[in-house]
Amino acid sequence: MSAVFVEAPKRLVDVTIDGATVRVPEGSTLLDACRQQGIDTPTLCFLENLTPVNVCRVCVVEVEGSRTLVPSCSRKVEPGMAVHTDSDRVRTSRRMVLEFLASTVDVSLAGPDVGRWMAEYGADPARYGDPAPPHQAGQRDAARPGEHPVPDGSAAATVAQPVKYDNDSYVRDYSRCILCYKCVEACGPDAQNTFAIAVAGRGFDARISTEFDVTLPDSACVYCGNCIGVCPTGALMFASEYRMRRDGTWDDDGQTVTTTVCPYCGVGCNLELHVQDNQIVKVTSPLDHDVTSGHLCVKGRFGFEFVQRRADAG
Ligand code: SF4
Ligand code: SF4
Ligand code: FES
Repeated sequence: MSAVFVEAPKRLVDVTIDGATVRVPEGSTLLDACRQQGIDTPTLCFLENLTPVNVCRVCVVEVEGSRTLVPSCSRKVEPGMAVHTDSDRVRTSRRMVLEFLASTVDVSLAGPDVGRWMAEYGADPARYGDPAPPHQAGQRDAARPGEHPVPDGSAAATVAQPVKYDNDSYVRDYSRCILCYKCVEACGPDAQNTFAIAVAGRGFDARISTEFDVTLPDSACVYCGNCIGVCPTGALMFASEYRMRRDGTWDDDGQTVTTTVCPYCGVGCNLELHVQDNQIVKVTSPLDHDVTSGHLCVKGRFGFEFVQRRADAG
């Protein structure tokens, strides 16, 4: 007789959010409770398929009795908590986080939510003066053998690190990196367990780096692309998308997304094929899929180009 494991029912916890009582299962986060109430809460370093690392602090809320603002993405509910999501303190903090980020990195590809939050909180990055590069990686980046120069021909000196286009699968443009750690987690214990990238340096020199700063082909990277799947800013991008954006042919609105099953092995991961002009331009996986949780291997993620070679072969 096979055993059927049934999860024990969770205790329900009452908290007050902006004056309204909200009942959520024990173990929920304040973000879960806010979302249950339909409260739009900005997040950047949080993703459902990763362990919260609390580094961006854009999701902070005010909890009565707490000296500091707390990150809603990781703080668990406690009975009787009184939470404020739209107080002056919260709004000021969120505005400043958004301003600091947007005044140091290019967030133009971070998706419509970021633009909406910046408008909502009145973020004005320009008040800090001219944009400053996020980190100075030094001359060793510009001189690294095997790397292409910035593909659009602009001077490498205009960015702190040149765009790293050192393999056929994906491109790293750390002038868009907000140091959210998501790629590090996806490469590490939350998904791939490859540990090819980590945060190197401290303070203004902090940056995402391979071991000893080697190029990607020389690193431990296995090209699963899970880092691209979680990157919120476009700092990590399919080479296909990068080339099309560079050439002005990328068209979000002209793309369809079809969910299918990866044909390569028996795991049967779900794939989302992003198709433009009858060509697959990138592949993602649904975050809520119970096999992949949004993650794939190199074959499912990048092994799509053969589909478009069919006409050539025929
Ligand atoms: S490269 Fe992307 S995912 Fe990685 S830390 Fe930077 S913004 Fe986050
Ligand atoms: S993505 Fe990789 S693990 Fe998943 S079905 Fe395809 S080949 Fe198998
Ligand atoms: S989303 Fe909560 S700290 Fe970044």
